[in-house]
Amino acid sequence: MSVYLDNAATSWPKPEAVYQAVDQFMREVGATPGRGGHWREEKSAHIADQARSVIAELFHAPDPAGVVFTLNATQAINMALKGLLQPGDHVITSSIEHNAIWRPLKALEQRGVTVTAVSCAADGALATKDVEAAIRAETRLIAMLHASNVLGTILPVTEIGALAHKHSIPFLLDAAQTAGAYPIDMAAMNIDLLAFPGHKGLFGPHGTGGLVVRPGITLETWVEGGSGMESVPETMPETLPARLEAGTQNAAGIAGLLAGVRFVLEQGVEQIRVHEMALTALLIELLHGTPGLTVLGPTDLPQRTAVVSVTIGGYVPDQFAAVLDQVYDVATRAGLHCAPQAHRTAGTLESGALRFSPGIFNTVDEIHETAEAVLSIL
Ligand SMILES: Cc1ncc(COP(=O)(O)O)c(C=O)c1O
Repeated sequence: MSVYLDNAATSWPKPEAVYQAVDQFMREVGATPGRGGHWREEKSAHIADQARSVIAELFHAPDPAGVVFTLNATQAINMALKGLLQPGDHVITSSIEHNAIWRPLKALEQRGVTVTAVSCAADGALATKDVEAAIRAETRLIAMLHASNVLGTILPVTEIGALAHKHSIPFLLDAAQTAGAYPIDMAAMNIDLLAFPGHKGLFGPHGTGGLVVRPGITLETWVEGGSGMESVPETMPETLPARLEAGTQNAAGIAGLLAGVRFVLEQGVEQIRVHEMALTALLIELLHGTPGLTVLGPTDLPQRTAVVSVTIGGYVPDQFAAVLDQVYDVATRAGLHCAPQAHRTAGTLESGALRFSPGIFNTVDEIHETAEAVLSIL
């Protein structure tokens, strides 16, 4: 049995409808939204519009036009941070961020933006009062991940959103680990900017993702070029999504993303979470008590997502992952997971960790097989 437990990086396999949508788009549609005076262009534009609508529905976004497509969550985060922050501004983030937020903030620091990273506990827990204490007169943004890709910890997003709203500070959420896997309500959570990957919990192909921009938030453009409309002015259109979507989009990927989001809506985010967390709980239970093995992150299951990172005394995570892969055909991810800050917070910056991330298509049998493989290696 081949077991894929790297869904936190990119989900696989995809629902059958996603494969079909991409194939059908490439063979039968082919054109680019806004570029062409023919039925293929109309069909392509219709698919993109439908994708914006289902994404807005999934996240309770006020306006589908605020759904801007990008290649991944990283681009969406860069678009938001660099479109909003100016020299002299202050931004608050957490100590468990992925490099997708951390590195652009470090780049912005070079340009005169001040950054406060609020410290999380070793299991990733963040106290909202510490975020409030970090607010200054010049705080222009709170930018954080929803859940850690290393620890699985879910941050208190509703409380942080309420806090941001109270202080009239925009709130950017990196939903890389939660989009499609945990309920997100932009209105109820006071999220102004939501960055999401298409290729993880929304089951789209690689090269899909987006930024959902709440009406009233204006971002400076970070890429300029053709917008397929309002071509005479020398600046990008004011209106979304065209303002932030210069150049030809990944239209085939977006067709696949549409099918992926429809799958999520059909299954229901809550149901997906129930399945993924049952597998997560089982894996933790089966590994519990193994000498030298430590599970990172919160012990309380409702506080986490379907990510199980472990350290195993005396073993190098990369080597362990290689044996799991080559001998047992179990796919995991070892190392720092592009999130050295999270590992520093957890005390595993030197060692790294081995991460199992189950998804909707994994089975109970696969989890048993994985745990048996781990124990037999030990
Ligand atoms: C928390 C978090 N943020 C951002 C990203 C970046 O996502 P993408 O690869 O779509 O740019 C990831 C990817 O693993 C992630 O886990």
